[in-house]
Amino acid sequence: MGVPVQCFFFVLVFGLAFKVRGNECDFFTGTWEVDDSYPLYHPATCPFIEREFRCQPNGRPDLIYTHYRWHPLSCNLPRFNGVDFLEKMRGKSIMFVGDSLSRNQWQSLTCMLHSAVPDSNYTLDRVGDVSIFTFTEYRVKVMLDRNVYLVDVVKEKIGRVLKLNSIEGSKLWEGIDTLIFNTWHWWSRRGPTQPWDYVQVGNQRLKDIDRMEAFEIALKTWAAWVDANVDPTKVKVFFQGISPSHYNGSLWNEPSARSCVRQKTPVPGSVYPGGLPPAVAVLKNVLRTIKKPVTLLDITTLSLLRKDGHPSIYGLTGAAGMDCSHWCLPGVPDTWNEILYNLI
Ligand SMILES: *[C@@H]1O[C@H](CO)[C@@H](O)[C@H](O)[C@H]1NC(C)=O
Ligand SMILES: *[C@@H]1O[C@H](CO)[C@@H](O)[C@H](O)[C@H]1NC(C)=O
Repeated sequence: MGVPVQCFFFVLVFGLAFKVRGNECDFFTGTWEVDDSYPLYHPATCPFIEREFRCQPNGRPDLIYTHYRWHPLSCNLPRFNGVDFLEKMRGKSIMFVGDSLSRNQWQSLTCMLHSAVPDSNYTLDRVGDVSIFTFTEYRVKVMLDRNVYLVDVVKEKIGRVLKLNSIEGSKLWEGIDTLIFNTWHWWSRRGPTQPWDYVQVGNQRLKDIDRMEAFEIALKTWAAWVDANVDPTKVKVFFQGISPSHYNGSLWNEPSARSCVRQKTPVPGSVYPGGLPPAVAVLKNVLRTIKKPVTLLDITTLSLLRKDGHPSIYGLTGAAGMDCSHWCLPGVPDTWNEILYNLI
């Protein structure tokens, strides 16, 4: 009888010590719990969610995956308040920069905000590669700049050149109040969907390069841009961490699973058996070298636990496809935004 009581006190004392020692809460270590006050919005209130992420209207029958709330171990994550967010951001702009995982998080945030003020007018425009969702009453712009590598791909006579040291695309980021960057998923692309023919490092043109090395060089180019151009009194910079995929059940102790299809529940507990993708360490090492404040939305582990959160056969191509990379909406990116809200 004595042992459990001692354990209880140990956990209590350790928990308190942890809370007092850290000034800031670690939002990124925790567990998923069912909470029927979630999701934060219904797909029907967000007519602008793209088919790619609209799992329920696409026929996904199970809905428990929409009812999970992220519960950090050492503190509570205050619930998202859309009106408060819009008031704090009044007159300001927020821009996601990156690939389709940025689009996933951008669509999630526009839904979370719109469903908080459903009678407030909005406009949705597109200018080149930038999509702009404006909450007109609040003069808040929530934008997406589609830019899969952050560094440039330039069409030249010899073909399309991925220039790891060039970041001219950054012109679109000037004057934005909050920037949330992301790049990773396109670095491993080969074959017909690889959008470049040569890669340039300094003055050297190569047919190919180690992809993890290329990723690191590009991140350093981006880091140098941040140090040279961001005024931290005016601009908040975030990096959306590596969003994981689920195509190999061995990594969550279910070796027969070859994808995320029919996964209905998260991995229990707060540890993912398969560990972190190697790109996370590369990213963290580069972030450590930046002198300006950049906050990492370290969403990899919490998302790794959500093998149930992907569209699978309820995504863009339906049963013909298998999407275990993007996330259903409502779903996991809502939690990324709930954490973002608490960090802004
Ligand atoms: C929304 O737009 C309509 C039409 O332009 C206008 O009549 C209405 O007053 C606007 N609503 C708000 C809350 O600004
Ligand atoms: C799945 O992960 C296991 C464990 O890391 C690894 O041994 C195996 O090769 C992986 N399978 C595939 C198809 O990548």
